[in-house]
Amino acid sequence: MNRSQFPDDFLFGVATSAYQIEGHKFGGAGSTHWDTFAATPGNVVRAEHGQLACNHYHNYEADFDLIAAAGFDTYRFSISWARVIPDGFGAVNQDGLDYYDRLTDAMLERGLKPAATLYHWELPSALDDLGGWRNPDIAKWFGDYAEVIMNRIGDRMFSVATINEPWCVGWLSHFLGAHAPGLRDIRATARAMHHILCAHGTAVNRMRDMGLKNLGAVCNFEFSNPTDETPENVAAAARYDAIYNRFFMGGIFHKKYPDLVLEGLEQHLPKGWQDDFDVIGTPVDWCGINYYTRSNIRAAKGAWPNLDTVEGPLDKTQMGWEIYPEGLYEFIMRMHNEYTKGIPIYVTENGMSNADVVANGEVNDAARIAYLESHFDAAKIAIAAGAPLAGYYVWSLMDNYEWALGYEKRFGLVHVDFETQVRTPKNSMKYFSEALRQKIK
Ligand code: FCB
Repeated sequence: MNRSQFPDDFLFGVATSAYQIEGHKFGGAGSTHWDTFAATPGNVVRAEHGQLACNHYHNYEADFDLIAAAGFDTYRFSISWARVIPDGFGAVNQDGLDYYDRLTDAMLERGLKPAATLYHWELPSALDDLGGWRNPDIAKWFGDYAEVIMNRIGDRMFSVATINEPWCVGWLSHFLGAHAPGLRDIRATARAMHHILCAHGTAVNRMRDMGLKNLGAVCNFEFSNPTDETPENVAAAARYDAIYNRFFMGGIFHKKYPDLVLEGLEQHLPKGWQDDFDVIGTPVDWCGINYYTRSNIRAAKGAWPNLDTVEGPLDKTQMGWEIYPEGLYEFIMRMHNEYTKGIPIYVTENGMSNADVVANGEVNDAARIAYLESHFDAAKIAIAAGAPLAGYYVWSLMDNYEWALGYEKRFGLVHVDFETQVRTPKNSMKYFSEALRQKIK
């Protein structure tokens, strides 16, 4: 891959998130539901947490030097709500504002366009106490928080996204119980999924009123593959697809939810949900795709949505995720043709975890380079087919806290030794220095 194969103004970036890298114990941040989730036995591998993580809080300048040296144009980072407003609403932590201010200037000094995400999963515990995403007031709390932080750094943002991966915040965290707050309850799920979208729209409106531009939504997608062509399994895969890939896009771009999801969730949605679509569907300027893999789905007995996810035959990453670049092409085209219809699309996350080790000062992650190449190829085909794909962020800049899987899943282009905090650029990072060398912008 190299730049010349993409449109002239195509942006290449790397992505991270606050809790996964910063070191939450520094700088007066409040407790979050990830701290308490991790402190509860059985939730996270070795009960690992983000208190120190990559200590990016202190190392950000050197970390940004690595991004700039490799020739990237932009950096996708997230802001920790509890660092800015420790209790979620009320008193503001000036140290938190100062930190994101320094971070922003450090990006700009290195020619990196700041691409902010307001929420990448660490909800302030004080809001969790009030029901978190289940409480309808979260839309207002989130809007207020967006104003506080953007009053400080909004003048220098290239783009701002609201809530990273609504499916994970809603379904994975309230139905599957795999992420904080670890609930497994359909009523909680329905409410969380709806309130996430209300919060998204409220924050977009508030930031728009402040004069901010380039506001977007970031959703994750997983290709839904029926295990065979029997009608029951095809129908189960369609339900999975609707829940995962169509609910949030439907709300934002069609101002309605798919029937296949309402079938199971309608009775659990909050009263008056039908009246919220003007907020939910407020226009955005771009949309982001986070894409990693596909799932193999078959029908199951029992309760809705009556499906199981089963292991598939394709090559897998360290996460056990099947490598399926065709899915990226499918989602870019689907997003453009059925939902976003012309506004710019970004791949806001794509990458793989690999059991990387440093040997003689080097990390040979050829598998990651191959993974990325195959997904860049899918993106090129989508661009050739007319999709307005404007940029591509690799997950992730460096190895970090992979949520419930702790520190052992390595997604970085840069290796991190979590004992010493030493960074070692992997061969994939060197690959980018070569591919992005001719900076045209
Ligand atoms: C995405 C998350 C990101 C990281 C990658 C592997 O779902 O947004 O924080 O965990 O997966």
